[in-house]
Amino acid sequence: MHRNLITTLLATSLALTLPGAANAGPREDQLSQYASAAKAADPAFAGFSAERGKTLHTQAFGGGKPDTPSCTSCHGQDTRGAGRNLSGKAIDAMAVSVTPARYTDPAKVEKWFKRNCNEVLGRECSAKEKGDWLTFMLGQ
Ligand code: HEC
Repeated sequence: MHRNLITTLLATSLALTLPGAANAGPREDQLSQYASAAKAADPAFAGFSAERGKTLHTQAFGGGKPDTPSCTSCHGQDTRGAGRNLSGKAIDAMAVSVTPARYTDPAKVEKWFKRNCNEVLGRECSAKEKGDWLTFMLGQ
């Protein structure tokens, strides 16, 4: 009885202190959905890369609209600084360290990925690309 209580307490405090359990939220859920989709598309998928995400964010693509060749065309070179859309309206920094509410609404994230990837790449981003980009931004 006593021993069971201790085991229960131990298990509870472990669950509370495990990083995965403590941090699980909409961003982590969305990332693991992207991971499942990336794995389904390519069995060799071995996890997201902030480095690839950074490249996606800064690279100039030729397939989209000429006035928005890259994500940084609107979001700016500095992930921690404000961006600007084509009509000059300010966009809050994409870095989570500066704008903590970022990427907490999965529907919003999906909506803008769809719109902005089409705008910049001329196609939708893959699950792998979205996961890489999010991983990069979550570390910013
Ligand atoms: C034409 C301007 C423009 C370009 C280019 C652009 N974005 Fe955006 N993006 C916006 C605007 C405007 C918003 C919505 C306002 C906001 O969230 O502050 C937004 C929001 C987002 C969001 C949702 C953020 C959240 O808080 O949930 C994601 C994700 C995103 N953009 C990704 C990208 C990626 C990836 C690229 C490059 C492939 C890109 N954007 C290129 C203008 C742009």
